[in-house]
Amino acid sequence: MDRRTLNGINIVITGASGGIGAEMAKLCAARGANLVLLARSLDKLKQLETELEAQYLVSIDVFQLDISNTMQIQTVFQQISTVMERIDILVNNAGFGIFRAAHEASISEIKEMFAVNVVGLMACTSMVLPQMQARRSGQIINIASQAGKIATPKSSVYSATKHAVLGYSNALRMELYDYNIGVTTVNPGPIATNFFEIADEQGTYVKNMQRFMLQPEYVARKIVDSMLTNKREINLPRWMNLGSVAFVLFPRMFERVGRRVLNKK
Ligand SMILES: NC(=O)c1ccc[n+]([C@@H]2O[C@H](COP(=O)([O-])OP(=O)(O)OC[C@H]3O[C@@H](n4cnc5c(N)ncnc54)[C@H](OP(=O)(O)O)[C@@H]3O)[C@@H](O)[C@H]2O)c1
Repeated sequence: MDRRTLNGINIVITGASGGIGAEMAKLCAARGANLVLLARSLDKLKQLETELEAQYLVSIDVFQLDISNTMQIQTVFQQISTVMERIDILVNNAGFGIFRAAHEASISEIKEMFAVNVVGLMACTSMVLPQMQARRSGQIINIASQAGKIATPKSSVYSATKHAVLGYSNALRMELYDYNIGVTTVNPGPIATNFFEIADEQGTYVKNMQRFMLQPEYVARKIVDSMLTNKREINLPRWMNLGSVAFVLFPRMFERVGRRVLNKK
């Protein structure tokens, strides 16, 4: 049963070709939202578009976009303005990680993770801010991670990108307060998606964390339920957030225990 209607609301979702992005798209369409879906895999986006248009009376448009290419971001958002008169909600979801010890991460991997997870997210946000500020309404939803709150071994670069997303979002929220634009950050623990096909080449992390994995449909529902609300932060599962509270209070002790206990990759 739909919990909250999104009838007539215009939503742009990055990284919508799979994982939680595709699940959010399905839920948003079911609740009546018009969608623009972005990713590199145009075939997957088109398949989703066909599926959703057959089921729901909403407008769906898809565009191919490599978020690491800031020139392409400008072009695509220009094209979006021709099919969507205003953007009510931007979901910055596209992202990836590679689990490696800091000394093993190549410079190109480091640059690519920052280009997609951080610079791309900021560039997409910049594209929608002027019109949201002029209208004095809107919501930016940034998908960070629990890795943005607690860094764990073999995820130094990925964690750094997600810490950056949280830092950016926290400042943005204050800047946009007077414009009535909400900024929601989402910090999930491990989710059973294709994310780990790139992140966890050896399969060690997935094996160790299998029983803690969240289902993408569940995470997507929590995010979509937060749309049009003034939710500041979504932490999933809630118990995992206790770890980040403990880290803030007792960082030295947390790292002493954590370097063994959290070494799951
Ligand atoms: N899975 C987890 O355990 C987990 C936990 C916490 C946070 N997160 C975050 O949740 C978000 C979604 O991840 P997911 O788990 O749904 O992973 P996923 O199934 O791998 O989906 C990632 C999405 O991002 C898109 N993407 C990746 N690189 C891109 C690029 N250069 N340009 C445009 N789109 C790009 C992919 O589309 P294309 O490949 O078609 O471009 C895909 O649609 C990410 O930001 C991730 O960091 C994931």
